[in-house]
Amino acid sequence: MWARSVLGLVSLALVVQDSLAFKAHDFKTCSQSGFCRRGRALAKRSLETQSWQSPYSIDPSTISIVDGQAVFKAGVKSSLYPDINFGLEVRVQEDGAVRVRMDEVGGLHKRYDEAASWSLIADPKISQSIQWKAGKKDIRAVYGSKKDIGVVITYEPLQITLSRGGKDQVVLNGRGLLHMEHFRKKEEAPAVEATPTPEGGEEQVVVKADNPGAWFEGAEEDALWEETWGQWTDSKPKGPESLSIDISFPNHGVVYGIPQHATRLALPTTTGENAFFSDPYRLYNADVFEHLASSPVSLYGSIPLMHAHSEESTVAVFDLVASETWIDVSHSSDKSTETHWISESGILDLFILPGPDPDAVFAQYAKLTGTAPLPAAFGLGYHQCRWNYVSSEDVRTVQKRFDEENIPVDVLWLDIEYAVDHEYFMWNEKTFPDPVEMVNDVAATGRKMVVIVDPHLKRDSNYPAFTAAQDLKVLVKPKSGEGEYEGWCWPGSSSWVDFFNPAAWDWWKSVFKPYQLEGGSWSWTKSTEDVHIWNDMNEPSVFNGPEITMPKDNIHYGGWEHRDIHNINGMLYSNLTYQAVAARSDPPKRPFVLTRAFYAGSQRFGAMWTGDNMGTWEHMAVGIKMVLANSIGGFSFAGSDVGGFFGNPEPEMLVRWYQVGAMAPFFRAHAHIDTKRREPYLLASPYKDIVYGILRLRYSMLPVWYTAFRETTVTGRPILRPQYVVFPKDKNGFDIDDQYFIGSSGLLVKPVTEKDVTETTVYFSDDQVYYDYFTFATYNGKGSHVKVPAALHQLPLFIRGGSIVSTRERPRRASSLMKYDPFTLRVALSKDGEAKGDLYLDDGETYNHQKGEYVWREFVAAKKTRNSLRISSHDLGSLKPTEAVGDSSLTTYNPKNSYAKTLDEKDVRVEKILVLGLKGNPKSVKVEGTGEDLAFEFMPAMTRAASTLVIKDPRAKITDDWTVLIQY
Ligand SMILES: *[C@@H]1O[C@H](CO)[C@@H](O)[C@H](O)[C@H]1NC(C)=O
Repeated sequence: MWARSVLGLVSLALVVQDSLAFKAHDFKTCSQSGFCRRGRALAKRSLETQSWQSPYSIDPSTISIVDGQAVFKAGVKSSLYPDINFGLEVRVQEDGAVRVRMDEVGGLHKRYDEAASWSLIADPKISQSIQWKAGKKDIRAVYGSKKDIGVVITYEPLQITLSRGGKDQVVLNGRGLLHMEHFRKKEEAPAVEATPTPEGGEEQVVVKADNPGAWFEGAEEDALWEETWGQWTDSKPKGPESLSIDISFPNHGVVYGIPQHATRLALPTTTGENAFFSDPYRLYNADVFEHLASSPVSLYGSIPLMHAHSEESTVAVFDLVASETWIDVSHSSDKSTETHWISESGILDLFILPGPDPDAVFAQYAKLTGTAPLPAAFGLGYHQCRWNYVSSEDVRTVQKRFDEENIPVDVLWLDIEYAVDHEYFMWNEKTFPDPVEMVNDVAATGRKMVVIVDPHLKRDSNYPAFTAAQDLKVLVKPKSGEGEYEGWCWPGSSSWVDFFNPAAWDWWKSVFKPYQLEGGSWSWTKSTEDVHIWNDMNEPSVFNGPEITMPKDNIHYGGWEHRDIHNINGMLYSNLTYQAVAARSDPPKRPFVLTRAFYAGSQRFGAMWTGDNMGTWEHMAVGIKMVLANSIGGFSFAGSDVGGFFGNPEPEMLVRWYQVGAMAPFFRAHAHIDTKRREPYLLASPYKDIVYGILRLRYSMLPVWYTAFRETTVTGRPILRPQYVVFPKDKNGFDIDDQYFIGSSGLLVKPVTEKDVTETTVYFSDDQVYYDYFTFATYNGKGSHVKVPAALHQLPLFIRGGSIVSTRERPRRASSLMKYDPFTLRVALSKDGEAKGDLYLDDGETYNHQKGEYVWREFVAAKKTRNSLRISSHDLGSLKPTEAVGDSSLTTYNPKNSYAKTLDEKDVRVEKILVLGLKGNPKSVKVEGTGEDLAFEFMPAMTRAASTLVIKDPRAKITDDWTVLIQY
């Protein structure tokens, strides 16, 4: 959640509240940020200067090849600064990804080079089969199973090109914008002429007497040192250290990724003719109040991963830098994309992921940053949140209303008002006198609670979390490097734990242990294992700080400035919270942690939501695109606040928002403290009944979500898949970002995000039949945009022919009560009359799945003869051990595992098989083997609807191999 301009509290100039709106003046544009201004000016000069050439080149005499053949090393010089040395390293990894690292050698200071140590799961394995061939002007290596990938490092000017199939795919420094500003001493500067910019920022311009590099760097020095913006001055003690590089994707007309921005999925241009946005995309985790629904402004999280795509190829770059970064995007033609990345500090550490298709890129990225672990099963249920449920009685009443209406909910949430004086862990005893009893009451129905714990700690000598952190000396320091940084947040004057300091780790984990022994260190005594955690405000949000965050010259562990680590700060916080919640139980149980700030790697630590959205149709629509962009960035467990955080959505909008939310991996309703209550049971008919139906639909589909999660855990493929991911060669789908597939289930959804809609258009890419999930109406694909009914009660949800979808259709109050419920299979026959699908199950709670305790089945419908169809079930776990890219825990499988045994004992079975699109009248349906006849009903095909065969109780246990034979 965010503050109403709390800046108003500290700055007299801002006491008058603006009307509710994005406060552009709270955040910098590129032109107000010295290093971005310099980077963009460099790009501009390159266009204006004939015969522009990068001043950076490799000194061939310094080249060495180490580590077998895989690592290329060389010295790099800039003709502008002949006395400064840079070192370049290019490593080809086992999977063909190329890592490019460059740093200043022997500089005045060290550049931050620890982003990789946080973000990557391990040091990537280096290829053992690379041969570099040095020539006069360049050095090159060819590799890949087809020997079709090549890397060429050109010496002068320095350029690195990745090619595949004889075509250039990724070019670094092709436009000569590489620039690593070396560390320097602050010279006796001539008097600074500060000219305030129109936006209130200040440019600090120093005219250099005689600068031979002016053609490259500009004739004037611009904001190299101390930099003032509005009321804040950044001391920049190390001066300029920014880093810029151009990355071109010849032969790729579309780019995706670099979340988080409120924008279309196919990233619009920011430079060049008719640029869509005028500022670059910014990555600088920020608490942006009432952000716009279409903007390149940075939001709460940053994943510096960009896919470039065409009909022939997908490649990606991952720019592993933790400091503020701006990215310009332009197209020199509709077949090629040029980007320019400008970062404030850190070394160059860049990965080129060679593809060649989206799935390969997902695997390559997952090998670097890991995949999402399987979540606690309740995390996929419905979450009911509000700022705030104000008392334990309020919580009980909300739960009671859900139960009275017989609608499911898994988690009840508490925002900051549960904590006295916003001191997290400390219950307000007036309003929550009985927290443990309250949680137990919620847990009694098989539900959980999530409670907020923010990273700011009130500076109160009676607040044990604060005093413990103070005693441990693990609080972030101000620029002096002495004492504790003090800023303003919800509780007033606050300090922040520096999670970069290992001394904070064990302590933080101990805090979450409920019932820690008296006399031991202080811990959250009034909590239970049914309480899980919400990490908000971890950008970090600081109400009286520059851009609502910490000053960049604050000091973290190891002496690093906040500027160096800003974008990974929030990840470390949710990481430690995630570990803390797991570690409080023995053996550990899967935690649920929701985070607002994130970075590449955050997918390992729980879920994210898109932050404080507004209750408008535009925000509803862009929320889908933001969740898709997050999926591209490896962080699938995502959703946006149902209903919109700000505002009071009309019932129609709320219904649509539930449809959107139910079709996202993370499904939570949330609302600002100033909004009217809007729990589903408060709606009038028919809205209420429609929402109840959506909630039940979500619960019936939990097996689909969980199975999709298994796949992302093992392969890194996203849960939500936009059109280009599923049909990479269909260019008509490249710009489609309002419909998507759910895992490999074959389900395609297009949520409606506009008012007064009764029908919508869906794009079906392939030559296949698609079935309406509810009515079984059929549509033929083949690249058609098809009108489908989409009145308020109709969610456009389709099953692609060839899929078998497993659901659990008995309405329950919570997912934990569905553990042993029977399944329904929807067998959606392809136009060739066949189908298959998988189903993954485990206890949803412990880590026993990592020891092979799970059930993973495949269902296959295949023709036996011209007039017979076999539907069978077999064990996938035994059949093919999976090639895991990230988490390898699911590669072990124990066919006799006790989880499977429990399902067997509880007689968990398939209670119904629904066959869609059978081409003929069934004569008999039998269990193959025993020959037992099965009861069935058949509805022949009609003009617009597929034939449906319903097989009741097919005598099919979920853990058994079985076959049903249909004669027609
Ligand atoms: C998570 O925290 C552990 C310390 O408990 C640390 O070793 C690891 O590097 C962290 N990873 C990330 C991505 O923050």
